[in-house]
Amino acid sequence: MAEILAVGEAMERALALLEGGDVVAIPTETVYGLAGDATNGVGVARIFEAKGRPRFNPLIAHVADLAMANRIAAFDPLSTRLAEAFWPGPLTLVLPQHADNAIHPLVTAGLDTIALRMPRGFGGELIARLGRPLAAPSANSSGRISATTAEAVAADLGERIKLVVDGGATPVGLESAIVKVEDGTLRLLRPGGIAAGEIEAVASVKLLRGAVGIQAPGMLASHYAPGASVRLNVARVASGEALLAFGRHRAEGWRDAVAMRNLSETGDLREAATNLFAFMQALDRGGAATIAVEPIPAQGLGEAINDRLTRAAAPRDKMA
Ligand code: TXA
Ligand code: MG
Repeated sequence: MAEILAVGEAMERALALLEGGDVVAIPTETVYGLAGDATNGVGVARIFEAKGRPRFNPLIAHVADLAMANRIAAFDPLSTRLAEAFWPGPLTLVLPQHADNAIHPLVTAGLDTIALRMPRGFGGELIARLGRPLAAPSANSSGRISATTAEAVAADLGERIKLVVDGGATPVGLESAIVKVEDGTLRLLRPGGIAAGEIEAVASVKLLRGAVGIQAPGMLASHYAPGASVRLNVARVASGEALLAFGRHRAEGWRDAVAMRNLSETGDLREAATNLFAFMQALDRGGAATIAVEPIPAQGLGEAINDRLTRAAAPRDKMA
């Protein structure tokens, strides 16, 4: 079973594991990541192994600073502006990578672009100490809900990894927004922990939507799936269902729900994002066959919340 160490006491142990080509689960501001040295093929392969993730899914490389990022990929004025505005933070930029960079090709699945992000807190310090970027997908088995607490990581991956660094509940609660920068255009590949409108305000260009070509499988139709089936935008709770509520106004029949969690009593989308995965997991563990979800507005962070819920509700035969 994985050892769980608090951020204050985990640094040396985490560094030793990464130096040895092993993986470590770490907190970031978005969700927990399963990190390995992005320049070490063995470390990267162990990430895929521990997650049971299909090999063709490229990973995000996490950096400590802009200098490290610039050694890996080509920044134009637009990507520089976004990095300066939002890093460290929940924005991932997909950029053309330099041909001769140190990133192991398994990280990018052979693509000529690379996803880069600068995390806040322990992750950033760890990367700076290691002096090399970390590849880190969300710390969950492939296709399952992302973990937002150390306990959730240990429950899912604890038998397969040696260390979980405990930084408490992650403040954002949703994965980063992924934006591809190409010829002066921006394409939102995955809505996430920064609202599209905030990115557009800084970039002064509209985000293109809809993926082209290879895409983020966070983009697979069924992803983030709990064990229970998921029913969205419910106006009425059916018997035997658990209820994932939002705001002050309850769906009809809510008193009969076998369990209920409210993402945000006050209708605050930021609070709802923070609670989303933990509450889905809690309702799932309660054993209901179906989780009914009340409507959630689509603006701001609501776009990412509805994206994750739609994937959780998709038919499971679409799962990778
Ligand atoms: O908040 C986050 O982004 C978390 C934390 C741990 O940093 N990470 C995360 O990683 O969500 P992951 O692997 O679960 O999702 C990364 C997404 C995947 O859907 C992958 O396909 C996409 O990024 N991606 C990576 N490289 C890409 C590329 N070159 N082009 C397009 N999509 C890419
Ligand atoms: Mg993931």
